Amino acid sequence: MRSIGVDFGGTGIKGAVVDLAAGGLASGRHRIPTPRPSTPEAVAETIASVVDEVDEELACDGPVGVAVPAVVTAGTVRSAANIDDGWVDFDGDGFLTERLGRDVRLLNDADAAGLAEMRYGVGEGRSGTTVLLTLGTGIGSALFVDGRLVANSELGHLQMWGDSAEEQAGAKARERLGLDWEEWVVTRVNPFLAYVESLLWPDLIIISGGISKKPERFFPYLRTRAEIVPAELENNAGIVGAALAAQEGTG
Ligand code: BGC
Repeated sequence: MRSIGVDFGGTGIKGAVVDLAAGGLASGRHRIPTPRPSTPEAVAETIASVVDEVDEELACDGPVGVAVPAVVTAGTVRSAANIDDGWVDFDGDGFLTERLGRDVRLLNDADAAGLAEMRYGVGEGRSGTTVLLTLGTGIGSALFVDGRLVANSELGHLQMWGDSAEEQAGAKARERLGLDWEEWVVTRVNPFLAYVESLLWPDLIIISGGISKKPERFFPYLRTRAEIVPAELENNAGIVGAALAAQEGTG
């Protein structure tokens, strides 16, 4: 079974046909830079172009899932931390379903990555409480209880030292403060993880997002009570999870 997954990121909008039996891409990955400003209308046009390109390479009449860097409830986007404010209260499912002329389902990007990791990656078959964190421009989170997603956990917006955790501990903070990997993990990431652990007592923590591609740079310094592992699906988790959510109506 196949559907199309799209990942709306800060710099690029990426999409592909996803083979849901294998949990991998069936087509190449198509990418168009994210428009600036990233208004809903401009982003919808870019998503339409990405879906056209993907469909041209490998025809797919399945639904389209879109991972967005924001809270999404019942198809409506509710927040806009790192995207244009016009997304707040925007009916993304309705607008894109009409624009693309096919079923479209939006969900949070970290939730999408989490769905993919729990189905096909490092979280496969895991029970108990699992937290996936994406440490990128923002900090995204996905919470699973016995493999079931609790959507929109938004742990990156916990307040820490007078600001959001993503401002204090995200990958952007490392660059802003000029910290090396060890300094960043010890002074920023570990305190954030301790905070998350005090709230949720997870059994497993998965670190996802671009930086999970080279975990050896920072994993040695991580200290947690829970088992902590890098994600397996790397760059494609958002695309795969979005396609999965569109097919199964989850997220
Ligand atoms: C947003 C989340 C998103 C994360 C990663 C945060 O700023 O609030 O919804 O998952 O960034 O993109």
